[in-house]
Amino acid sequence: MKDIDRSDMSWDDWDETIRPAPETTDFDHVVEASLSRRGFIGSVLAFGSGAAVMGTALLRGTTAIADAHSAFPFAPIPAFTDNAVHVPEGYMWRPVVRWGDALFSGAPEFANGHGVEGSDMVFGENTDGMELFNIDGAEVIAVNHEYVNTRVNIPARGEGVPPTEDDVMTLMNLQGVTVMEVAMGADGYEVVVDSPYNRRIHHNTPMLLTGPAAGHPLLQTSADPSGTQVLGTLNNCGSGRTLWGTYLTCEENFNGYFGSTVADAPAPEGFGRYGISANGRYAYEMYHSRFDFSAEPEASQRYGYVVEIDPADPASTPIKRTALGRFKHENAAMTLAEDGRVVVYMGDDERGEFMYKYVSNGTYTEGGPTDGLLDDGTLYAATFSADGTGAWEALTPDSTGMDQAMICIHTRQAASAVGATTMDRPEWIAVSTTLPEAYCCLTNNSRRNVGWTNAGGDLAEPAPGTPNPRAENRYGQIVRWRPDGADHGADTFTWDLYVMAGNPVVGLGEYAGSDNVTEGNMFNSPDGMMVDTAGMIWIQTDGDDSNEGPYTGMGNNQMLIGHPETGEIARFLTGPSGSEVTGLTWNTDRTVAFVGIQHPGGTWPDGGDALPRSSVIAVWREDGAVIG
Ligand code: FEO
Ligand code: CA
Ligand code: CA
Repeated sequence: MKDIDRSDMSWDDWDETIRPAPETTDFDHVVEASLSRRGFIGSVLAFGSGAAVMGTALLRGTTAIADAHSAFPFAPIPAFTDNAVHVPEGYMWRPVVRWGDALFSGAPEFANGHGVEGSDMVFGENTDGMELFNIDGAEVIAVNHEYVNTRVNIPARGEGVPPTEDDVMTLMNLQGVTVMEVAMGADGYEVVVDSPYNRRIHHNTPMLLTGPAAGHPLLQTSADPSGTQVLGTLNNCGSGRTLWGTYLTCEENFNGYFGSTVADAPAPEGFGRYGISANGRYAYEMYHSRFDFSAEPEASQRYGYVVEIDPADPASTPIKRTALGRFKHENAAMTLAEDGRVVVYMGDDERGEFMYKYVSNGTYTEGGPTDGLLDDGTLYAATFSADGTGAWEALTPDSTGMDQAMICIHTRQAASAVGATTMDRPEWIAVSTTLPEAYCCLTNNSRRNVGWTNAGGDLAEPAPGTPNPRAENRYGQIVRWRPDGADHGADTFTWDLYVMAGNPVVGLGEYAGSDNVTEGNMFNSPDGMMVDTAGMIWIQTDGDDSNEGPYTGMGNNQMLIGHPETGEIARFLTGPSGSEVTGLTWNTDRTVAFVGIQHPGGTWPDGGDALPRSSVIAVWREDGAVIG
């Protein structure tokens, strides 16, 4: 019997604690590679000498900040460290829904906690990516519940008390996805309880596997010898939306749900690359054999995908699209190539893993058939060069030595085979709505030191002049790329760093950040990101909110807005202490922004003796004007 994990650290942080590190490193090889690269990039290598280390050519659009007239219609707010939400003067906010709030009238009332009874009828825990859909006039939000904090969700269980079967079922029910209708009430937006659109999708919801890996022996289990039907979607992190009005939910750190009831059971081939080990975070393997790899060795290969959900049809079956690859999917940003093929950009959030894009073989036409657009296409992984160019390397049987199904199951290994560039934890990707460019948050990398590799053995040491230049990357950066020919279907691009986060007060050299980071807007660990209809870049953070040492002056996690052309960045919102700000969508007329507050600390938002409750809040301008 094992103890259930009771920490309330973010799942990203927890996953880092179990991330398999190589036992040995090839230091000589690293030094050799580093020296040869220094010869190539020449003057951009004065590591530690200040912003020039990034190469001025790679910081376009960020030089006029000091003189720029503010592009934003609000006065930026200072950093805060309290257990509250702050927005600029002239703006308002209020909670829309908290974990445990009823979606259906039969749900038990939240009593500062929730038992198993009715736990699949309430809003789940730890809200993350979300998208609002206008369905025949109804405003319907699909929103992820990434993970649970047992300290919050099972408060009755004392430290060291093993979880019961009911505890595990409660946790399973509080994760996954909520689909809910929202509407204006007397005090603002609220959930429409019992709306026919309301739905909870959780860890036991039936779904289908489609695409090249569907039916493969590595996806077959004793309960599903077809390899095409699976229960549940795990660790739903970021999101996306298709051009045809469906929701994309992204399975990120699925590895942490699997364990073994046999202590010395050997982990199957390929598990190490994905961080699957004998110790599951929630002890699911004690009660559900599909999470016990000593009993069902292939089951974990049925997770780690992008899942498509139709929010307009509560009876529809969610579909895991294996063509988009299997890795720790952060989000899925869809756009179109010039010729009408569907392009989906995706990040794999782990130290030293990669950025991807998927391009469909078929083309999209508005109102036309969409069958196959997410089942039949090519995956690419990104390579970045220090001269500011980059390329998308196709993952094909020829380039990887793997067949198409294996490329979609062991995608990390396929990307390693083509020499993709190891990145500082790619989180959200957003495609500009006004310019032919896209952005990816590279959140931080606590281990990008000389000698570090990813679990596949790819060198991941800092590389000056590339998107991942810093050895101790505690602050993160946002890389921007512009596809050649202004065509997201192109195989090549140019890139720069939109911002290098840092601390200009206590930081030195490259740790001070790029020119568009100031004492007034500094932040760390960019994570969530959306571009609004005006092309403004909304940046959400999941970083260190200690406000101490290298983080002095940064305060709580926050949301900022960046101008794509001037590079100006302004702080718009700060979350309560302990929280991560993640997930952003807008109502139909763009007068209200919905923002996710994940794993808050203290007793936010209810106060008193209440448990902290992850929530979606609404933010709007007092004058009712558009805010995004
Ligand atoms: Fe779930 Fe990488 O954030
Ligand atoms: Ca995230
Ligand atoms: Ca994160």
